[in-house]
Formats: sequence, C-alpha cells, structure tokens
Amino acid sequence: CGIVGYVGERQARDVVIEGLRRLEYRGYDSAGIALVQDGALSTDKRAGKLANLEKAIAEHPLPPSTTGIGHTRWATHGAPNDVNAHPHQGPQRRVAVVHNGILENFARLRDELERADHDLLSETDTEVAAHLLEAEVLAGADLTTAMQNVCRRLEGAFTLVAVDAHDPSRVVAARRNSPLVVGIGEGENFIGSDVAAFIEHTREALELGQDQVVTITREGVAVSDFDGNPAEGRRYHVDWDLAAAEKDGYDWFMRKEIFEQPRAIGDGLLGRHDEAGQLQLDEVRISDDELREIDKIIIIGCGTANYAGMVAKYAIEHWTRIPCEVELAHEFRYRDPILTRNTLVVAISQSGETADTLMAIRHAVKQKARVLAICNTNGSTIPRESDAVIYTHAGPEIGVASTKGFSTQLVACYLLGLYLAQVRGNKFGDEIAAVVRELEKMPAHVQRVLDDSASVYELAQRFLGARSVLFLGRHAGFPVALEGALKLKELAYIHAEGFAAGELKHGPIALIEEGLPVFCIVPPRGRDQLHDKMISAIQEIRARGALTIVLAEEDDDEVVPYADVFIPLPTVPTLLQPLVATIPLQLFSCELATLMGHDVDQPRNLAKSVTVE
Ligand code: G6P
Repeated sequence: CGIVGYVGERQARDVVIEGLRRLEYRGYDSAGIALVQDGALSTDKRAGKLANLEKAIAEHPLPPSTTGIGHTRWATHGAPNDVNAHPHQGPQRRVAVVHNGILENFARLRDELERADHDLLSETDTEVAAHLLEAEVLAGADLTTAMQNVCRRLEGAFTLVAVDAHDPSRVVAARRNSPLVVGIGEGENFIGSDVAAFIEHTREALELGQDQVVTITREGVAVSDFDGNPAEGRRYHVDWDLAAAEKDGYDWFMRKEIFEQPRAIGDGLLGRHDEAGQLQLDEVRISDDELREIDKIIIIGCGTANYAGMVAKYAIEHWTRIPCEVELAHEFRYRDPILTRNTLVVAISQSGETADTLMAIRHAVKQKARVLAICNTNGSTIPRESDAVIYTHAGPEIGVASTKGFSTQLVACYLLGLYLAQVRGNKFGDEIAAVVRELEKMPAHVQRVLDDSASVYELAQRFLGARSVLFLGRHAGFPVALEGALKLKELAYIHAEGFAAGELKHGPIALIEEGLPVFCIVPPRGRDQLHDKMISAIQEIRARGALTIVLAEEDDDEVVPYADVFIPLPTVPTLLQPLVATIPLQLFSCELATLMGHDVDQPRNLAKSVTVE
C-alpha cells in the first residue's frame, strides 16, 4: 500500500492526492483521504483506482485544510470495496488512520473491542487500530502518546499514520517491518511510504528505524521509540528528481523504463572497475578474508528478482566455483536451510521492501550467515538489515512489471560473481578482465536491440488474440524464458509458460498444437553443444505445428530455416546473453498489453512492492 501524510501551509488535499498518485504503483485496489479542520474530520474513500477518489472529491469538495493523510490500498484483509478502503476512523470520528501491513493479533484485539461494545464497520485489521487509538485520545492522551501506547500492543507488520480531529497541528506515524520515510520541508513536513510521495516538495528525507513513532508538525519532526524514549532517524538527501519519476513522453512508465536500460546498465557499471578490468566494489563491506571463507552461496528473491538470481547462479558458479543455490524467498526459511557463517546469502529486491525477502534475510541473519543485498532503493529495509549492499542504480522503477530493475540486477550479480572470483584469486584472472570488457559493451548492444524493435511490434499485432504462449530456453536462456512468460502473464493476462528446452520431451511437448506461438531463446554458438541441442528442440516443436519465434545471434544461419519469425540478437558471451535476450520479450508484452487495452503500468491484482507475506 501507499501512504501519505502532510502538515503545512498548503492545501493538504492537493499534496495528499499528488503524493498518492506517485505511490499508486504500490497498490490500487482503493484510495482514501482524511483531512482535519475545525475539530472535525472530513474523509472520502473509494474502491478502485485513485481516479475514482479524485472524481468523488471533485463532485463533493472537501473543506480547506492544511493537515491530512491518504492511502492507496493493496487489499489484504477484506475485499477492495468502499467500506474496507482506508482511512478508518474511531466510533466518535475523532481519529482517522491509514495502514500498510498486517496486524497479526487483530482477531484478539477485535474481540476485545467488541466485548467493550465497539461496533466495527469494516473487515479490516486497520479499523481495530483506529478504535484503539481513539480510545487512548478520548482518555486524555495526545496522539503521539496514544500511538506509542497502541503500538506496544500490536503484533505483525505495520506502518500506521493517524490524525486527531482536535489537534490539527500534528500527524503521527509509526513503523514496524513496513516502510516509512519523512520528508523535511520549510514550514511543512511530509510522511510517505517512499520518497516519491513528496519528492516534488523536498528532497531532504529522514529514514525511520524499526519500532519508532514520528510526529510531524509545521515546525519540526520528533522521533521516539514505542516506549516514548527520544530516538533519531537518519537524515539523507534524495538524489532522484521529479523528472526521473515522470513519463518523459512515453505512453507508459514501463516503456520508458525499457528504453532506459542502456543508460541504467551503464550506470550500474560506473565506477565499479578500473581500466585493467579489476573490480572495485568498495560498498561490499564484507572483508576479503571473509569472502575467501565463503563455501556456499544462496540467492533469494521473488518474481523477476528470482529469475535474475537464476541467471546469477550460472555465472557465479562458473566464475567462482562456489556452490550456488537459488530459492524463492518465501520458500527459503520454511525448509530450514543449512546456513553457517561461511554461507553468503544474496537477497535480490528492486524495492528493498518485499516482505517475503525481508523475512528470509532475517532468518539468515539469525543463523549467522552473511547477507548481501542487491537492491535499487537507497535506504530501504532489506539493504539496511543486510551486511552489505550493491545498489543497482536503475533510478526509480514505477511500472509494476520490472524491466530495468531486472537488467540492472543482472549487472550487479555479474559484478558480484566477478568480484568474488577476483578476491579469491581464481585462475580466471584474464577471463574476468575479458568479461568486464564485454559488460562495458552491453549498453550499446541493448540500444541496438531497442533500435531494431519494429519486428516485435508486428509480432504483437499478429498474436493479438493468442490464448497461450510458450517460451523455451537453455542454460542462462532458461530464466529468460521464465521471465518472458512472467511478463506476458503480468501484462497481457495470457496463459504463458517458460520451460527448459531439454525438459520439453519429458512432458510439455504434449501442449504443442497447430499455430501455438513458442518463443525460443537460442544460446550463442560454440559452447557445449547447447546451441545444437536447442535447434533440435525447435525442430521437434515445429514438426508438431508450433509457430516458432526465434531469438538468436544475428548471423546464426543454422537456425534461420526453423524460424517462422527471427529476432536477431547481438553476439555476446553466453552468460551475458540474458541482458539482450530479455529486451524483445519485455517489448512484446508491453506492446501486446497496450493493444489489448490493458493498463500496462498497473496490471490487475498486482502491486509493485508487496510488503506483506
Ligand atoms: C512483486 C512485483 C514483481 C516483482 C516482485 C519482487 O510481486 O509485482 O514485479 O518482481 O514483487 O519485487 P522486488 O522489489 O523485491 O524486486
């Protein structure tokens, strides 16, 4: 969910709605606002996207106010309807609350309230927090103290932001296991789930620690722990600007982000090696001695980040000879993985806030493993709780389906693998420098794939109406197949599956029927017969009527006879091929979804960062 709070001199309504617009990628099942004026709360909340709320406010304007909170929801407890939308209020309509996360002991608290004759209107856990806060305020506590008292009773993950109708001077927020940042202005202050909420007003931010309460007024910001002891957040300057968070003339953020990949990949490499190809990852704060002791690597992540991890496994094992596993973050801790001080857990997360990944690294930290995050969001929770972080420097990714987030995660994984090989003195010294040189060429290669994308647009036209699409790959091309299928599911809502091409004959080939589109990612020639085996697989499916869309090296004449559609890729090393092979698949899904009339930036049922387990 996305959360905004404001106290200042401007119309809170405008600041809050604008902030919600920039946070809408975090959830868009419903949206709501609460403003404080003359001892009363004015609220409105609507199911569906923010536009519904804006329309309602235009028809029934809210009174002027300079103190307010807002919310855009990704439903957990209760259906995404008007009643369950946030803000929620206490029975006397004195306190309003918005919330992100899940209150795990809410059933018990709800029972307690119902026994005390509280009528709860919604099915949400949040309303319970509103009732508890209001009870404290009615008993004489100020809103800050009320928040501290209530938070001590809550279990689970939450960011709560509240206003009190009788105290327009302050907005109070609290966080546990869920994101919250403060924006520091002049004569005004802001609260947001992330800096996008207030970046147009201030770039000075304050990051809150775990289990802290913050009170913002016009004049200042005060932080405490849940017991009321003064505490401090960490001040930092945000280097993203507003333009970076806007569409730049593209129809979708996603398309803009696809086309930003040459720049993003270049930024990811910047300053991380010298001219001789020696890597310099100063930010990896694990000492060389410790890195030499690593005897196992486990890579964790969810969704697209997990597929980046699968590619990384091929590269890191090859370069370092350290055994490397990849696991979905939400499966990881429940299998009781074997972790020691010499295990390096690599957590990949664009947002740095995915709860499944966060809980997995907490488990790893408890077991004394070393944790390194690969993350795009400065100051987010996952890197904060890790021993080390490699930031991907992709810039803000707004489109829910990850694109430049993925390619820059790949770059960071490559750098990590090469760095480990370098530190451990592997015999691949020359190979490291050679791969670094190849990596340096990737922005130009990716640019070329983007420049030649006309055939992908035609393809989208041609497959409008397709009901199922398959993707085949081998080796590092296998995760690319999975990522291609995921993009299509996310954006076009079409059944799509990725397979390892070698697995085809063991079952999936039964799916092949006349005219079924199958994307085939062909490995570069000259390595372990992978290329030839892939061609055999393509022949097998073509013989059974599949329509083959073949992504292969541009001068790969051997495969051309078996391609119904040929998408040329620049010649690059096998392990780096995912960086170029993913691009046409991203474009295809984006284009097809656009033609189908879907909302590409905010696909149904999804959220950019899922901060609940
Ligand atoms: C959500 C998004 C996916 C994303 C995944 C992991 O499910 O919809 O696009 O890949 O989370 O996100 P993260 O921020 O941890 O990389």
